[in-house]
Amino acid sequence: MAFNKRVKIKTILDENPVGTEITLMGWVRTKRSNKNVSFIALNDGSTITNYQIVADPNVISEDILRKCTTGSCLKVTGKVVESMGAGQASELNAISVEVLGEADPEKYPLQPKKHSLEFLRDIAHLRMRTNTFGAVFRVRHALAFAVNKYFNDKGFFYIHTPIITASDAEGAGETFKVTTLDLKNPPKNESGDIDYRKDFFEREANLTVSGQLEGELAAMALSEIYTFGPTFRAENSNTTRHLAEFWMIEPEMAFYDAEDNADLAEDFLKYLIQYALDNCQDDLRFLESRLLDEEKSKPADQRSEMGLLDKLKFVVDNEFVRISYTEAIDILKRSKPNQKKKFQYLIDDWGADLQSEHERYLVEKHFKKPVILTDYPKEIKSFYMRQNEDGKTVAAMDILFPGIGEIIGGSQREERLDVLLQRMEEMNIPTEEMWWFLDTRRFGATPHAGFGLGFERMVQFVTGMGNIRDVIAFPRTPGNAEF
Ligand code: 4AD
Ligand code: MG
Repeated sequence: MAFNKRVKIKTILDENPVGTEITLMGWVRTKRSNKNVSFIALNDGSTITNYQIVADPNVISEDILRKCTTGSCLKVTGKVVESMGAGQASELNAISVEVLGEADPEKYPLQPKKHSLEFLRDIAHLRMRTNTFGAVFRVRHALAFAVNKYFNDKGFFYIHTPIITASDAEGAGETFKVTTLDLKNPPKNESGDIDYRKDFFEREANLTVSGQLEGELAAMALSEIYTFGPTFRAENSNTTRHLAEFWMIEPEMAFYDAEDNADLAEDFLKYLIQYALDNCQDDLRFLESRLLDEEKSKPADQRSEMGLLDKLKFVVDNEFVRISYTEAIDILKRSKPNQKKKFQYLIDDWGADLQSEHERYLVEKHFKKPVILTDYPKEIKSFYMRQNEDGKTVAAMDILFPGIGEIIGGSQREERLDVLLQRMEEMNIPTEEMWWFLDTRRFGATPHAGFGLGFERMVQFVTGMGNIRDVIAFPRTPGNAEF
């Protein structure tokens, strides 16, 4: 018999094959024994549910049973029988048990007790073996699959944009450099600066902060595309919402204006949430109870009014609020925390950049719904956004989510060559280096738009996890690149 003719626990739960002989493989979560029998809870990651193995010491030797400790890996062949215990339809009566990998109980860091999320971050190589992280990563997978399904079903094409680039799409200067130069002894030019012409790419290069610019090129040919890949930002923000390496989904559409863009973004977000509700019931129910538990330790006014599932349903069932930046500033100026000087950054004048405290006030206190904020001052947004008639604002769009703040940033793009060139010059963006980007405005330009969804922030919202480090397998943050 081939080694992997095993049955997954999820399949057993779905099919309940009582009476058949099967082979299971997985890791021991717990073992309880008395003189007559041992009960082993096995988990193979296919589902949050453990499967109960019943081992009779007359059939399975003491020696083997002693090695079936928490964390060890087993291959168990046995007969599926109806279960006596409550909460499970069937269990496995072991005929043979093979210990594939032992786990010394004195040294194995995961014990069947509650570990803190902070502790588990330090053992990220093992944390996926817990209920919480198993659930998070199954939901993350489902959402990634749903992203591709959504766009595929709509006729969008998946473009793989480069990870190494020479441009800084957002113009924020937060890039990681890519070089093969000897850092101790780099080649210099006549003026004494590092001579990047001698570097691998014969120019300065960095990790991408966004696939958008290349995405725009593709949209000018295939009309509707999306990218879904890793992006890198060297911003020194140690928050629960920032990673140095995160995944972004960036659709880009020819023949879309700002309103079409917002319509697509709202529909897309609702689709992803509905997909998780339809396909991840068990994991979401577990995550809901985990969150409830976690919130018990918080003061009453900081607990969420809704459980996780209700919150997800609420977002799917209700229209997002759409308001302009100007309207938002009016609301914020008149708001209690601004009047009482409770905001860390007070809102005085039109033109102020919104901080997450302001975004969260709008979403969580004022509207109590996701908000699409549009038409920001051009000074606080990127060079590529389309300028509005008023000469002051651009056709930007940020989508703000409860508990998260900004989840999407996007815009209609400036397709008018002269307006774009002028804006780039004002912002000191080198136009010669961007000749290829500008060519799309020279040849067959058309109105187009797009946005970027931060994938981890979306996974946070759907799973209810408070820290972004807990929704990506191996987080990269300032001072942190273990594993
Ligand atoms: O608003 P941002 O910077 O927009 C762009 O990069 C555009 N080029 C997107 C586009 O129009 N195609 O980033 C988009 C989203 C944010 O709304 C946020 O969800 C997420 O990416 N994001 C981060 N997520 C985790 N860690 C960080 N450091 C992030 N920075 C942005
Ligand atoms: Mg943004």
